[in-house]
Amino acid sequence: MSKVTVVGAGNVGATCANVLVTNQVADEVVLLDIKEGVSEGKAMDIMQTASILGINTRLTGVTNDYAKTEGSDVVVITSGIPRKPGMTREELIGVNAGIVKSVMDNVLKHSPNAIVICVSNPMDTMTYLIHKTSGLPKERIIGMGGALDSARFRYFLSLALGVNITEVEGIVIGGHGDTTMIPLVRYAAHRGLPATELLSQETLEKVAADTMVGGATLTKLLGTSAWYAPGAAAAQLVEAILHDEKKMISCSALLEGEYGQNDICIGVPCVLGRKGIEKVVEFKLTDEEKALFEKSAEAVRKTNAALAGAL
Ligand code: NAI
Ligand code: 2OP
Repeated sequence: MSKVTVVGAGNVGATCANVLVTNQVADEVVLLDIKEGVSEGKAMDIMQTASILGINTRLTGVTNDYAKTEGSDVVVITSGIPRKPGMTREELIGVNAGIVKSVMDNVLKHSPNAIVICVSNPMDTMTYLIHKTSGLPKERIIGMGGALDSARFRYFLSLALGVNITEVEGIVIGGHGDTTMIPLVRYAAHRGLPATELLSQETLEKVAADTMVGGATLTKLLGTSAWYAPGAAAAQLVEAILHDEKKMISCSALLEGEYGQNDICIGVPCVLGRKGIEKVVEFKLTDEEKALFEKSAEAVRKTNAALAGAL
């Protein structure tokens, strides 16, 4: 029996729960929100797709009742306020730090062995907050950002290449921020053919730039931040863990020397399996890429400094 709790039944949390149920990733999913009725309503709506889609996963919605989350194998934290147009992810820090901390206290009382996936923004800093305050081992704390940014990168690459998106490789590392993420253009490929040989420098630069502002573009269009791809990306991490897939996905992980960094959570390629982050994969970076990573880490550290009061 596998059990997943998704905290926050807003746009991202409900979408994540919907993908988990539709793809039958776990036996049981609990969707929890502080707002009365929201998670119950969304869970009921999702479960009413079950007979249509032939689904056998059980989804329950609860209002702040952590007893119902007891014994979860994976907990996804999406509670918090999202970006509004013109806002950066970093501006969410004060409110979301308080929410993430109190949610984690409740989660751990009932699921001390859970692997935690943090989605709430500013995600790298919220993931670091969980490291500093939860006492969980580093492999069981995973930030979701690079999975989404890499999906956006592959989307823009597939449009530029005019090929099947599932045959496109692309990974984004660094912080989950408009100016901190690093689409690794040099490693992008279509079926092993380097994108650098298939696209002009100008097109590659545009693909990378579109990827970096991918979240802001959607926030401007939608009036709030995106949810379909973020929810699906969080569910992708849950699936890789529960099914012990050993997939390499970019995640925010605590670094202890990897990529020359310490005491920071930032996006790096990680192998995910039943133990959580089973390995941080060190790509060989050029001097230019190394400099970008260092700059990105510096920016994440600056945001982390704003946590001082919450630690
Ligand atoms: P939303 O506003 O639709 O949903 C947030 C939900 O959290 C609301 O239903 C709210 O009632 C609930 N909530 C607030 N405090 C709570 C608490 N203490 N306990 C339980 N539930 C609580 O927001 P949305 O769009 O779902 O975004 C959620 C978070 O995810 C935001 O911080 C957003 O910035 C972040 N995000 C992160 C992404 C990433 O790649 N890491 C991508 C997209 C969003
Ligand atoms: C996104 O990238 C805002 O983190 C959110 O869509």
